[in-house]
Amino acid sequence: MENAELDFFIEKVNSQSDIVEVISRYVQLNMRGGRYWACCPFHNEKTASFSVTPEKGFFYCFGCHVGGNVFKFLSLIENITYFEAVKLQAERLGIEIPTQNKSEQEVERDSEEKILHKINNDAKIFYHNYLTKTSQGALGRKYLNARGITDDVIEKFQLGFAPDSWDGLSKNFLQRGYKVEELLAAGLVSKRKSGEGVYDRMRARVIIPIANILGQTVGFGGRILNAADEKSPKYLNTPETILFNKRNLLFGLDKAHIAISNKNFAIVVEGYMDAISLWSAGIENVVATLGTAFTPEHAKLIMRYARKIVFCYDSDEAGQKATLRALPIVSELGAEVSVVNIPDGKDPDDFIRKHGKSDFEKIVTNARSLIEYRMNYVLRTIEHSTIEGKVHALKEILPVVLNETDSTRQSEYRKKIASALVLDESVVRSEWQKLSGQDKIQRVKGTKLKIEVDEAIKQAGAVALRVAWQDIDTLNYTLSMVPKNIFPKVQQEIISYLETCLAENRRPDNVTAAVQLSDSANAELSKIIIDSIDDRKENEVAAFDDSVKVLHKAYLKNRHAELLKELNKCMLGGNLAKADEILKSLKKIKSELDGL
Ligand code: CTP
Ligand code: MN
Repeated sequence: MENAELDFFIEKVNSQSDIVEVISRYVQLNMRGGRYWACCPFHNEKTASFSVTPEKGFFYCFGCHVGGNVFKFLSLIENITYFEAVKLQAERLGIEIPTQNKSEQEVERDSEEKILHKINNDAKIFYHNYLTKTSQGALGRKYLNARGITDDVIEKFQLGFAPDSWDGLSKNFLQRGYKVEELLAAGLVSKRKSGEGVYDRMRARVIIPIANILGQTVGFGGRILNAADEKSPKYLNTPETILFNKRNLLFGLDKAHIAISNKNFAIVVEGYMDAISLWSAGIENVVATLGTAFTPEHAKLIMRYARKIVFCYDSDEAGQKATLRALPIVSELGAEVSVVNIPDGKDPDDFIRKHGKSDFEKIVTNARSLIEYRMNYVLRTIEHSTIEGKVHALKEILPVVLNETDSTRQSEYRKKIASALVLDESVVRSEWQKLSGQDKIQRVKGTKLKIEVDEAIKQAGAVALRVAWQDIDTLNYTLSMVPKNIFPKVQQEIISYLETCLAENRRPDNVTAAVQLSDSANAELSKIIIDSIDDRKENEVAAFDDSVKVLHKAYLKNRHAELLKELNKCMLGGNLAKADEILKSLKKIKSELDGL
């Protein structure tokens, strides 16, 4: 795409986008005081500090300071690049994306991906046919049937079986015309350690195809039939390829996302078999990680469909540890997290086969909140029968419950901790207060006078820039009164952008700003614009005058301090003529300052 064509395209998508509608897909916006508010989707909070102004096309969070236009929002929430966000929004609006002038590298990568998609799809069909249509596949069928997996489920998940041979797949695929390098790149074969040639990666394993969100097969998990066989691992997965990255993939999401949207929550399990088994029992809002830790990318994928994530990991030590590690990742991203404890049986697959769907649904409904879960974990794992133990446990638990802002629940937790540790509730309360107090003291220490001065300049700068955004000609006036370097760094960046608008004789707009400004400057700009949606309109002129005065004064004070330093130097160096000159300037500034 040529630059002009690209600009036109982005502008077209932007002009047809309603930022409120787009953001409403992800968070619930409420109108208050002339703008929209919500709990921020980018950090964890209980009171709304995330704001949107539809007329100007900006969002800004007063809590975590992210902000920008509609594409910036999409890129953050979908975890994609800015331009991918433009394309996504174009697709949603049904605006045709112009064919791009791709670089040679992009073209090469595209064709490589295309081939890998085709190989993976062919391999899926190959394994599936081998399972369902050959006599050698009977072993696999017997295994799956013994685990209660019906033919319907085999079809639904396109499960397969890999031949018990070193070249069952590779021979077949080479005959079809695939190249060895392509099979290697797809991770279907491995190089022989000694000698030439390659061999099939998956042999005599039940094959579980793994798809991306679009439902395209990108890799496989393979389970051995006899887990008692200690020579080979229970599961073997496709190695990292350009399509297969475990950090970004969740097994089952391509099928589960509709149920996740409908039910408003996702269940995350550890194993393929858990997901398949729950699905067979009629629980469809379930995904599994691929034998790796839960990542922020996983959380973001799920949060496209629901903000609530229920972890249902194995009840063994490893599963519980994995849960503890996953929880902060998710809650930091602002999702609502809870944890299911499987009371009986090792994993969700076990449980649902023993107790059935409705019992499983019951334990999901009774899932514990993040705080309760961690509190219980500490109480379970820390010896607290001695005084030292109690002190230790209390120290571990309090930071966890401190996050609770609801006072009723706070008091519930205090009671619970007190009774579990056999302590008087007043002891828990006073420790609690001590800890939350520390936090406050640190905050007070941080606010030095200097920060207050900087803050005043920043606020005044914000008003001046807000006015310049509406009426760009005022920028010249402001800059004639105040040199750019008085403004905070982020605002200087915005000024540079506005200067290019002035030079090119066009109005500033949120799209070109988004492209030219850094993330922090974009956020600052959004804040500046969003701040204006108050009832201050009629005072805007007065506010502008005041702000320029504040800035001008800051400038003069700065200049005064600089000149004083210079004066000192000149006196020491004996340069009296220069000193005299400086003295004159100082007097002038002083009288101007007195006049303000
Ligand atoms: N896993 C793996 N490699 C292994 C073992 C496990 O990649 N050697 C991954 C798989 O994704 C597996 C998940 O970790 O699904 C959980 O392991 P586990 O609980 O052992 O597997 P289950 O799915 O419960 O399998 P099964 O019920 O068949 O024992
Ligand atoms: Mn299992």
